[in-house]
Amino acid sequence: MTDQLSVPMAMLGGVDPASIDRERLLSMRREVQRFLLQYEFGLREIGTKIDILRDEFLELHDYNPIEHVSSRVKSPESLVDKVARKGLGADLESIREHVTDIAGVRVTCSFESDVYRLFDLLTLQDDVSVRLVKDYIANPKPNGYQSLHAVVEIPVFLSSGPVSVPVEVQFRTIAMDFWASLEHKIHYKYAGDVPERLTEELREAAATATELDARMARLHREIHGEVPREDP
Ligand code: GTP
Ligand code: MG
Repeated sequence: MTDQLSVPMAMLGGVDPASIDRERLLSMRREVQRFLLQYEFGLREIGTKIDILRDEFLELHDYNPIEHVSSRVKSPESLVDKVARKGLGADLESIREHVTDIAGVRVTCSFESDVYRLFDLLTLQDDVSVRLVKDYIANPKPNGYQSLHAVVEIPVFLSSGPVSVPVEVQFRTIAMDFWASLEHKIHYKYAGDVPERLTEELREAAATATELDARMARLHREIHGEVPREDP
């Protein structure tokens, strides 16, 4: 293993930084900061694309298909945890290759049809290449989790040239988001060992969320009719 990250990792692991050469420590930290900054830029590129889609949609159809967008760069702490959990080499190259959710965007849409529409409009753009898609709406997880995930790569133009940055984009409805954030809290509270009674209730709640989505979509169509799909 190269030790590009091992010093910052040691810092995070509680090793006394005074025992490590100061210059080396600082240069390692700079390197990690620069590495993470590329992901921040990737988020901005995707964020702008989503803003543009939303604003144009609003202009064309007088309708906003997006309720909420949030984004984050993974913290060094949780990156270190993930590298350890997945048994990956701790060098930046291996992290770049194997950890595809360092930059994450969550797009919460009004309706399921908007989820797929936004997904298509983003992933069909020429400078966006799709690395992986997981459709947990068509195939929900056994616990009831639903969302449409895409790992996309977007070019970011640095002074040293372009780099291709992976960004994980999660598209979901408000109901799916409501469910996922509660499930996440429960999962966290029980450290993954959720009592069967709660697991069962969560599965039922997921079914209720799906039902609510279908109902709201029906109502919406009744009021507004179908929003036409653009030809990509
Ligand atoms: P991670 O190693 O956790 O990133 O999962 P993965 O590589 O198997 O990818 P997956 O697409 O299944 O999950 C990626 C992300 O989706 C997670 O980091 C969560 O943000 C979200 N997610 C996936 N499954 C669940 C779930 O069961 N509950 C909740 N609340 N979120 C989930
Ligand atoms: Mg993740």
